[in-house]
Amino acid sequence: MLPFRRSGQVGVYFVLFAGFALAALQNVTVDDGVLTGAVVPQYLPGVSVWHIGNNCTGCFVKPDPSLAYNGTWHDSTFYPTYGYTPAIEFTFTGSALYIFFITANNITGASTFTDLDFVLDQVTVGRYTHTPSPITGYQYNVSVYVNESMELGEHNMMVQPVDSGNDVLMLFDYFIYTTDASVSVSSSASPSSTLPPSPPTSGTATSSSPNIGAIAGGVVGGVAAVVLVAISLFCYWRKRAVHQQPVTHFL
Ligand SMILES: *[C@@H]1O[C@H](CO)[C@@H](O)[C@H](O)[C@H]1NC(C)=O
Ligand SMILES: *[C@@H]1O[C@H](CO)[C@@H](O)[C@H](O)[C@H]1NC(C)=O
Ligand SMILES: *[C@@H]1O[C@H](CO)[C@@H](O)[C@H](O)[C@H]1NC(C)=O
Ligand SMILES: *[C@@H]1O[C@H](CO)[C@@H](O)[C@H](O)[C@H]1NC(C)=O
Ligand SMILES: *[C@@H]1O[C@H](CO)[C@@H](O)[C@H](O)[C@H]1NC(C)=O
Ligand SMILES: *[C@@H]1O[C@H](CO)[C@@H](O)[C@H](O)[C@H]1NC(C)=O
Repeated sequence: MLPFRRSGQVGVYFVLFAGFALAALQNVTVDDGVLTGAVVPQYLPGVSVWHIGNNCTGCFVKPDPSLAYNGTWHDSTFYPTYGYTPAIEFTFTGSALYIFFITANNITGASTFTDLDFVLDQVTVGRYTHTPSPITGYQYNVSVYVNESMELGEHNMMVQPVDSGNDVLMLFDYFIYTTDASVSVSSSASPSSTLPPSPPTSGTATSSSPNIGAIAGGVVGGVAAVVLVAISLFCYWRKRAVHQQPVTHFL
């Protein structure tokens, strides 16, 4: 009976820690059109080789703006012989990253093959390939890169075309990163770590200074959690001592 009781106690501690950790996580969405703020997508080698897709009159590739995130996307095509490589780069502080593109199928006059490399902190960590089908049409909210196992910290991401001799179409829509609310730059961070996570903030790149309330909340929450664990540990040891008293002289 004693081992059973013991594993039950361990379970309680686990739930306590899991609840504490989950409550601090928060998603931040950054649209391709964001120009200012803490996290801004940079278009390389310069904006001149990128089009604001929804405003591009000369582009053959015309997704429906009402189906794109916030109605916008950035459009560029890599041509292996042109001597430049369009890329997207950004730096963020987080523990997960999700990048979303629009992909296209057969469009007369345009290359719609998409082949991307993902370079995280100078290391190539992923690749996404879309081979167009003969049927016309677009796919929206295509998750081209997901990483949910990052070390919480500052990371640099570079999205670039794979140079395999093919033209590469890039239709970048938005990305989402997961950050810790207690170090978040968002002003909507929950002040208490025991409350459920606040809803995702969109276009959060607007606030740039750390939220003191959120940090204080995180610290207070952390102290409260430690005190709770200490109290439960104390109760557990006391209970165990009482239960084990008749057998202690055998140990
Ligand atoms: C963040 O967004 C991703 C993608 O939509 C989702 O899978 C994940 O559960 C979200 N995480 C949090 C902490 O809300
Ligand atoms: C896109 O075009 C609309 C009008 O067609 C204009 O109001 C808007 O400023 C343009 N956006 C950018 C980022 O150039
Ligand atoms: C893609 O996701 C965005 C944001 O969640 C939404 O506004 C849009 O309607 C979605 N588009 C499609 C085609 O599902
Ligand atoms: C793409 O569609 C056009 C008609 O719109 C068709 O003539 C052409 O063969 C198609 N291309 C491919 C690669 O299937
Ligand atoms: C996720 O990010 C970590 C760096 O924190 C990296 O080591 C790992 O390879 C990445 N995983 C994927 C699937 O990109
Ligand atoms: C959506 O675009 C408008 C400009 O058209 C901008 O003011 C707003 O901040 C954008 N929202 C998000 C969530 O990026």
